[in-house]
Amino acid sequence: MGGRTKYKLIHADAFEWLPNRKGKSIHAVVTDPPFGVIEYTSDQLRKRGKGNGGIWRLPHNYDGNQRSPLPRFTVLRARHFEQIRNFHKRLAPLLFRLLVPGGHVIIASQNLVSHLVVKEFRSVGFEMRGQIARVVRTLRGGDRPKGAHKKYPGISVTPRGCWEPWLIFRKPCDGRVRDNLRKWKTGALRRPAPDLPFADLIPSRPAKRIEREMARHPSLKPQELMRQLVWAALPLGKGTVLDPFMGSGATVAAAEYHGFKSIGLELDKQFFQLARRAIPKLARLRLNDEK
Ligand SMILES: C[S@@+](CC[C@H](N)C(=O)[O-])C[C@H]1O[C@@H](n2cnc3c(N)ncnc32)[C@H](O)[C@@H]1O
Repeated sequence: MGGRTKYKLIHADAFEWLPNRKGKSIHAVVTDPPFGVIEYTSDQLRKRGKGNGGIWRLPHNYDGNQRSPLPRFTVLRARHFEQIRNFHKRLAPLLFRLLVPGGHVIIASQNLVSHLVVKEFRSVGFEMRGQIARVVRTLRGGDRPKGAHKKYPGISVTPRGCWEPWLIFRKPCDGRVRDNLRKWKTGALRRPAPDLPFADLIPSRPAKRIEREMARHPSLKPQELMRQLVWAALPLGKGTVLDPFMGSGATVAAAEYHGFKSIGLELDKQFFQLARRAIPKLARLRLNDEK
């Protein structure tokens, strides 16, 4: 990294900022949206801040250990699914307008709700280009029936979550891929190495302890993963990557690490300030020698 940073951070509601940005001015979106939606409402954030209650999956103190609370998807009801659908119904056309032809969206999802996202993105004209399985052990699912653990010891109510889907969409190209690459610098995914195609299976550990200390966000994504996704998103390493829901800034930090231009938006003031502090540290982090 040189002395000058290449990112811009904006404390804003994405749904207010995105419509005012010039069309065809973003080359890729890599984002981890507020999926449960409800866990990022001000009410839930307040409960979390106090360290108790809310829909966060684990209390801060559990089994005598200090834990980060996690959103809990199994509590979603029909109206929450509807909220998630509406969220992506609003988001998809805004991103479509901002992206240049051939621009990709790589968006974190969740197995119980990803079908809603696909439907809304496809309906505004995005092409579905596959989904990445981020192989990661989560704490979700796999439990025996509540209140009947002993009676039904051989049962899991839902599968234990062992992977997280990241959906890949592309705005249609302007002509052939090679024409689009020349004109817009987009339309394809960058290989990790010339003899290695970008693959849709990424083994990924949770964020390292040192990253979690730098960026205390409940949904922090690891640099190991984000650097691979951001690298893939700009096929020629040119253009601007946007994260409309940056949290503590893992996407922006990964872009900065690669020397790419990026923009990060965040609604919550505390998370925004956290991102400002965390991004330079995350971008400098050397992954091999840190736990
Ligand atoms: C799942 S988190 C992203 C975490 C991020 N991947 C990281 O590693 O830190 C989603 C973030 O979106 C923010 N957010 C929710 N609604 C928003 C909106 N309308 N505009 C901008 N940010 C929003 C939340 O405050 C939250 O920090």
